[in-house]
Amino acid sequence: MDHEETLDPQDWTELRALAHRAVDDAVDYMASLRERPAWEHAPAHVKAHFAGPAPAGPQPVDEIYAEWLEYVRPYQLGNSHPRFWGWVLGTGTPMGVIAEMLAASTDAVCGIYSFVANNYVELQVLDWCKELLGYPLAAGGLLTSGCSASNLIALAVARNAKAGFDVREEGLAGAPVGTGGAPSRLTIYCSTEAHSSLTKAVEFLGMGTSSLRRVPTDDLLRIDLEALAGMVARDRDDGLRPVCVVGVAGTTNTGSIDDLPALADFCEREGLWFHVDGAFGAWAAIAPESRNLVAGMERADSLAFDLHKWMNLTYPVGCVLVRDAEAQLRTFSLTPSYLAHGEGERGLTGVDVPWLSDYGFELSRGFHALKVWMALKEHGADKFRRVIQQNIDQARYLAGLVAAAPELEQALPAALNIVCFRYVRPGLDDAALDQLNKEIELELQERGIAVPSVSTIGGRKYLHVAVANHRSRREDFDLLVREVVRLGAELPIDG
Ligand SMILES: Cc1ncc(COP(=O)(O)O)c(C=O)c1O
Repeated sequence: MDHEETLDPQDWTELRALAHRAVDDAVDYMASLRERPAWEHAPAHVKAHFAGPAPAGPQPVDEIYAEWLEYVRPYQLGNSHPRFWGWVLGTGTPMGVIAEMLAASTDAVCGIYSFVANNYVELQVLDWCKELLGYPLAAGGLLTSGCSASNLIALAVARNAKAGFDVREEGLAGAPVGTGGAPSRLTIYCSTEAHSSLTKAVEFLGMGTSSLRRVPTDDLLRIDLEALAGMVARDRDDGLRPVCVVGVAGTTNTGSIDDLPALADFCEREGLWFHVDGAFGAWAAIAPESRNLVAGMERADSLAFDLHKWMNLTYPVGCVLVRDAEAQLRTFSLTPSYLAHGEGERGLTGVDVPWLSDYGFELSRGFHALKVWMALKEHGADKFRRVIQQNIDQARYLAGLVAAAPELEQALPAALNIVCFRYVRPGLDDAALDQLNKEIELELQERGIAVPSVSTIGGRKYLHVAVANHRSRREDFDLLVREVVRLGAELPIDG
């Protein structure tokens, strides 16, 4: 063999030129978001481009880059656009781009060995999250790929901590025999409005969907506390083993916030684990005039939230915090001989920090922390406080515009940063109004004007505007309302 292969470039100068161009293009893209349509659908020829076998041979990097520009970059979900308010997504920060590139330049792994600086960045970010959200500094925690992963981790800890038997060793079959002679089912409670990731979590955890007891809500779409107490008592009478209640700080559909202090009291009384899903809403805790909205959250045994939503950090990054760090370790820590801890610091302490991989199900993890660390240092926490408060104020501004337009009707008062409203054309019944409002959503999206989504509330469809966007301005909401009123009057509907 006359030479050995590598994946490094033959010519670093050529790579450097491409990298400079890519950075320039990325900065131009971010700086001109407002001038572009809010979203563009990938046309058929673009979708068809991604067919065919794996390439056996090389392709020039310039050509590959041109494919990115032509076939991928234009057809995004649009969440970095100033008029994107669909579902609940974040908008990203330019510093996040730099951080992702820097992390990739070291092929950074995070979570193992105490000599790796990345772990200290993550530990500091976790401490910052605890401090900002008013959670105890001694809590365990982990950055994750998002709140679905955070909910899964938290519910695994909750299940194991409260099961009353060794779930790791025995599995769910180890539960004491209940009525009917079978192992008694462990149950978790959340409202009918709580997120689907909780359903996925109980499925993954082998508990089965029917172990997640969906509790009805009150007229503000918060968990009904009396119904919850009744369900827990009945389940106990029936020989089931309630382990956990999930409170939501900001539901995806409407931003409703469960009565967190009352849930904390209930869980304390009943000996249940109290988990809070605060995917985006947890961050109301840092907004100067809104902290009270999520008061009680800090009493949770575990708290799941995202940084890629309302904190606007580049996807993906979420977080889970667990008050009893030992309980988190007991659920996940596992040390095979090839990962023996304490081998990284010969001659120093001889003791490795607990590895972050001991706090979750992943061993190799990306360096999610760097973009959080850089962005928080770049702007300071106070800027994030102001941006979140600004979004809450913008949601109230939008609610005011809706109230002032006779054709528009708001579903319920905005609890946080989500406004749900519909266009009402006289003479149309609810089914026709559903159709009309869905059409309005599609027109707004497909013409690239703005991206709301649609929620179903009380069986009716409403435009759903979740304001978690640091690029939005009040004028964007003026435009949205103008366009909804125009489309609502113009769009043909049979009714
Ligand atoms: C309340 C709530 N929980 C959990 C999730 C799941 O978060 P992720 O998409 O980051 O996995 C979401 C997503 O919108 C959410 O709104």
